Amino acid sequence: MTSRGVKGTQDILSPDVEVWRFLETTAARHFETYGFREIRTPVMEYTQVFTRSIGETTDIVEKEMYTFLDKGDRSVTLRPEGTASVVRSYVQNALHTRSPVQKLYYMGPMFRYERPQAGRYRQFHQIGAEVFGAADPKVDAEILLMLTELLSSLGLSELDCQVNSIGCPACRPAFREAVRNFFRSRLAELCTECQRRFDTNPLRIMDCKTPKCRELRTGAPAVLDHLDPECRSHFDRFTRYLELLHVPFSLNTNLVRGLDYYTRTTFEVIAAGLGAQNAVVAGGRYDGLVEEFGGPKTPAMGFAMGVERTVALIRERLIKENTPRVFITALGPSAEEMAMELASGLRRRGVSTELAYDGGSLKSQMKRADRSGAEYVLIIGDEEIERGRFPLRNMATKEQAELPRDQIVDHIAALP
Ligand code: HAM
Repeated sequence: MTSRGVKGTQDILSPDVEVWRFLETTAARHFETYGFREIRTPVMEYTQVFTRSIGETTDIVEKEMYTFLDKGDRSVTLRPEGTASVVRSYVQNALHTRSPVQKLYYMGPMFRYERPQAGRYRQFHQIGAEVFGAADPKVDAEILLMLTELLSSLGLSELDCQVNSIGCPACRPAFREAVRNFFRSRLAELCTECQRRFDTNPLRIMDCKTPKCRELRTGAPAVLDHLDPECRSHFDRFTRYLELLHVPFSLNTNLVRGLDYYTRTTFEVIAAGLGAQNAVVAGGRYDGLVEEFGGPKTPAMGFAMGVERTVALIRERLIKENTPRVFITALGPSAEEMAMELASGLRRRGVSTELAYDGGSLKSQMKRADRSGAEYVLIIGDEEIERGRFPLRNMATKEQAELPRDQIVDHIAALP
C-alpha cells in the first residue's frame, strides 16, 4: 500500500483550506455583483473538446493532457483548463437562447502533465469567468475592472496587469509572416522548442522564457503595428476604457498566450514575488470559438485565476489557526457527562468547543487545553459539581469567573 499522493498533486489542509474557501466565496460574491452566474461542468470531456479549441500545436495539447481511452474506447481527457468546457456547454445547452449576453463563472480542479515546481502542479485549481455575446471592448475593460477590484479586496492591488492585442484571423497571418521573416536569419540560435515553433506556431517565440530567445527577439515586429483598423480601434477603445475606470495596466506587446483560441485582447496579471511561475491570472478574447464548436457567431471574453498562486500571495496575511473558543476539562464520569451536555449546548449556540475525550489527570487535560489554543477553559470536577459552581478561565489574562451550571452556556455565548 502506498501512502504517497500522485506526483504534482497536493492535499489542501487546514488552515490553508480556510484561505481557499475565503478566496472562493470572495470571488463568487464579486462575480455575482457583476451579473455572473455559476456553471459547473464535468472534469472530463471528449478529447476533441480540447484539441480543437486549445490548438493541436500548443504545449497543453502536445504534451500536457491526461488523455485515456475509456472502457468504450472513447478518448477522454481530464480538463486542462475551463474555457473549452464552458464553450462546449454553452453550445450544447443553447445558452444563447436564454439571453443575448451570458456571464458565467466557475471554479475547480484542472489537470496538466507539467513538470511540478513551486506554483506549478499537475492538479491545480482555477477560478474563471467568461462573458458570451458581446464584442464591444467595454466588456474587456469591465472584466479587468472586476478582476482588479477582486484582487484589491484580497489585498493584492500592487500586481502588474499586462495587456496586449493579438489581432484576428484576418490580420494575424501577416503578423505571423513578419515574425517568421524576422527570426529566419536567427533560426539556428533559437532554443530547440522555438525552432519547432518557427514552423508550427511562430507567435509563441515571442513569449519564450529562455534568456537566449528573449535576447534574440529584441527589435522583433510588434503585433500592435500589424493590427487591421478594426482590431486597432478595438484595442484603443479597450485601453481608453481602462483609463476611464482607473484600472492600472501596462502594455506587453509580447503577450501572445499559449492557447490558440485567442483573438484581439490578451492579458496576464503578474506577481513579482512568485518566482518563475508568476502569472496569477490570464485571459483574453476568443471571438471565434463558439462558432468552431458549431454554435452561432458569438464573441466571448474571459479569464482564469490560478488558485494555488493566489493563495500563496495572501495566505501569510489571512491564515488563522483553527482554535476552539472553549475547552472543557472533566474529571470523573458525572463530570464527563456534564461536559458532553454543555459542549453540545455551546455548539448549538455557535461556540466552537472541544473536550478532552480520553480523560486523564487535570494537569494533562489543562496541557491539552493550552495546546489547543482555546481562549477559555471550563473546569468540571467532583468538587465543582458538589459546590455547583464552575470556574471559567480566560487563558490569556488568567482571570477566572465562577459560574452556576444553568448560566454557563448563556454567559459564554454572550462573551465579546
Ligand atoms: P492559462 O494561462 O493556461 O489560461 O491558465 C490561467 C492561470 O491558471 C495561470 O495564469 C496560472 O495562474 C494558473 N495555472 C495554469 N497552469 C497551472 C499549473 N500547472 N499549476 C498551477 N497553476 C496553473 C487558461 O487556462 C485560460 N482558460 C484562461 C481564459 C479563460 N481565457 C479566457 N477565458
